[in-house]
Amino acid sequence: MNDLVSLTRQDEIAVITINNPPVNALSPGVPEGIKASVEAAQQDPAVKGIVLIGGGRTFIAGADIKEFGKITSGKGGRLSLHPVLETMENCPKPLVVAIHGTAFGGGLETAMAGHYRVAVATAQVGQPEVKLGIIPGAGGTQRLPRLAGVATAVQMCAYGDPVPAPKALEYGIVDKIVEGDLLAGAIAFCREIVAKGGPPRKTSELSGKLSDSGVYDFFFEAARSEARKKQRGIPAAQAAIDAIEAATRLPFAEGIKREAELFQQCLFSDQSKAMIHAFFGEREVAKIPGLPKEVQLYPIRRAAVLGAGTMGGGIAMNYVNAGIPVLLKERSQEDLDRGLNTIRKNYANSVKKGRFSQPVMDQRMALITPTLTYDGFDQVDIVAEAVFEGMALKKEVFAELDKVVRPDCILASNTSTLNIDEIASASSRPHMVIGHHFFSPANVMRLLEIVRGKASSNEVIATSMDLARRLKKVGVLVGNCMGFCGNRMFGPYRREAQLLAEEGAAVDAIDAALYEFGMAMGPMATGDLAGLDVGWRIRKEYKHLEIPGANYPDAEDQLCEMGRYGQKTGAGWYRYDENRKRHMDPEVDKVLEEIRKKKGIQKREIGKEEIVDRLIYALVNEGARILEEGIALRAVDIDIIYLAGYGFPAHKGGPMWYADTVGLKKVYDRVVEFHQRLGRFWEPAPLLKKLAESGGKFAEWTRTKGQEA
Ligand code: 3HC
Ligand code: NAI
Repeated sequence: MNDLVSLTRQDEIAVITINNPPVNALSPGVPEGIKASVEAAQQDPAVKGIVLIGGGRTFIAGADIKEFGKITSGKGGRLSLHPVLETMENCPKPLVVAIHGTAFGGGLETAMAGHYRVAVATAQVGQPEVKLGIIPGAGGTQRLPRLAGVATAVQMCAYGDPVPAPKALEYGIVDKIVEGDLLAGAIAFCREIVAKGGPPRKTSELSGKLSDSGVYDFFFEAARSEARKKQRGIPAAQAAIDAIEAATRLPFAEGIKREAELFQQCLFSDQSKAMIHAFFGEREVAKIPGLPKEVQLYPIRRAAVLGAGTMGGGIAMNYVNAGIPVLLKERSQEDLDRGLNTIRKNYANSVKKGRFSQPVMDQRMALITPTLTYDGFDQVDIVAEAVFEGMALKKEVFAELDKVVRPDCILASNTSTLNIDEIASASSRPHMVIGHHFFSPANVMRLLEIVRGKASSNEVIATSMDLARRLKKVGVLVGNCMGFCGNRMFGPYRREAQLLAEEGAAVDAIDAALYEFGMAMGPMATGDLAGLDVGWRIRKEYKHLEIPGANYPDAEDQLCEMGRYGQKTGAGWYRYDENRKRHMDPEVDKVLEEIRKKKGIQKREIGKEEIVDRLIYALVNEGARILEEGIALRAVDIDIIYLAGYGFPAHKGGPMWYADTVGLKKVYDRVVEFHQRLGRFWEPAPLLKKLAESGGKFAEWTRTKGQEA
């Protein structure tokens, strides 16, 4: 029919195949091709039934998300699926949709406009639009409840998680699971339907499941209230529920109109633009400018992890979860046992929660070989080093490794602060050394900052990026500097949080303001969770680098002097009860009062807006330096680091995107104001100034352009 959609015939069954690699998105041309094919098959008297199938690795991954940006920026863009879906549904000949890979978003909507659906067992269906800040816009909120019931439709549209084919069969979304060849199975199924005769089953005309028990006012109220908590700051989740409610109250055609109104509102929202930025951003960070495409990857078949503490244990779990066996080395039997017990406890918890079965846990544990020696290190392809933080120890360990591993073994340090080049200098092969900076808890957090040293080779960088994907992490390549990208920005963020407390903001008010902004957790609660002593130790080690006369906060150092390290000692910024519930603590007020006395600070009322601006713009200002220095490759890399590793809200797109959304002139003016009022920490980053003055955006800035400016 066109290059993207082909129509063939197997006897009396027409086969429509979509060929729009890599994921058969419904890009311009695809819906038109499907429509023309259905019409042609409908008119062909030799055709009795139709099968629609995806060519390549998947059915249809959804509408073409690239079109959305064009639509909202007025640069064209097309998204017109209704005509094709109507043609499919109204086709008088039975139309069977054959699903493999994913039928997501517009893909599932297309499938539901068919009369029947068959799928291979490994297929997945879903309405993930909410993860892009939108709702299904091609009838998903109207057809899905008719097939699967209202409660399932709410779950799928308001949360967006994929549903495996066997579950989809149970829900009534899919009619049959096909064993063996999908096309052959779909054709056979279609023939059965043809043989049965009768009019095709139109999803839009089904109504039995719309009056499921539980569909009362209170059901939707409860669903909205739950989504308000679980999908904080994402109006699309509420809109999806509204649209499904419309399906229960309005005729199909009117429900479709209501869905379209809500879809438009969501599409043009800042949240949606931010979430679409995050979607493409996660894929963009995998592309490293300057890294030759043909670069050879080192095979990673076996790994060793040094240190079975907080991080080493989690890192080992990541490897074995990906099927890579691990030698786990500690310095004493006691440390090794403690580390292994923690891993076992974590896995047992997952089994208890039903995430996987006991045999899976046993398999994973069996992939870990505990050891106190370097025996077997000559067999591993990578060593992940996670011993205590300290340059002397790291160098000692890297020198030891040099003697026991093969020349082609990657040496990856999990250091959070130390200079990768100096660590690499202890080895005779600095080109094999790189930073793999995981985030705590390492088995949960998705971010992996990959820190490139001066000498890290292209092969080691490319292998690390590939490994991140295998470990199901988002790998972001950054340059080497104190704190790398994420923690270097987090320093000023937490500094401002402390200073605000010293100036008079209540500890819980600071947390509440950032939580309301959308952060997973406020800065004080985060500090208490990670341990205030971590920063305290680092500050002591780097005291000599402090800028004389600058206004450093005293609060956390004082809390640590008192043994208040956070949750692990039962008290930090808050006091924690036996259930780990936090409470404000007058002791902390006393500490802050003392600091005010010592520093001559007049306590003042501080509003939410100042709290948020000071913390978020502290991130942005440092981010601008990091970008200009080339520590981050692009602004989007910083955004993804914050989204995947620091609990920054996806609907704000990351700190740099957020600043672009606010407007860099406005951000810059506020930074200048803080600079005048609060001193040298707030000196505006040159890039922020430049872009504010030229009306530019971080997202559009590239290094070459910037250097020319
Ligand atoms: N539109 C445009 N491009 C898409 C796309 C889409 N729907 N889905 C994936 N792509 C692109 C990716 O950007 C990537 O491009 P790149 O190679 O240039 O970086 C390429 O396809 C491959 O994607 P992945 O790297 O993500 O491939 P995976 O195999 O890891 O994952 C997937 C495949 C699970 C389908 C995943 O891509 C995905 O989740 N895609 C988005 C699904 C989605 O959100 N669909 C709903 C769209 S909105 C919609 O349909 C609205 C409708 O209701 C009207
Ligand atoms: P930890 O104190 O929990 O664990 C360190 C482990 O290393 C201990 O079990 C210790 O016995 C072991 N060890 C020490 N010397 C060893 C040696 N020579 N051989 C084998 N094992 C040895 O520390 P944590 O928190 O796991 O930190 C490890 C590294 O990860 C540090 O570099 C730290 O900066 C970094 N990191 C820590 C994060 C965190 O949140 N805790 C986050 C990201 C990085």
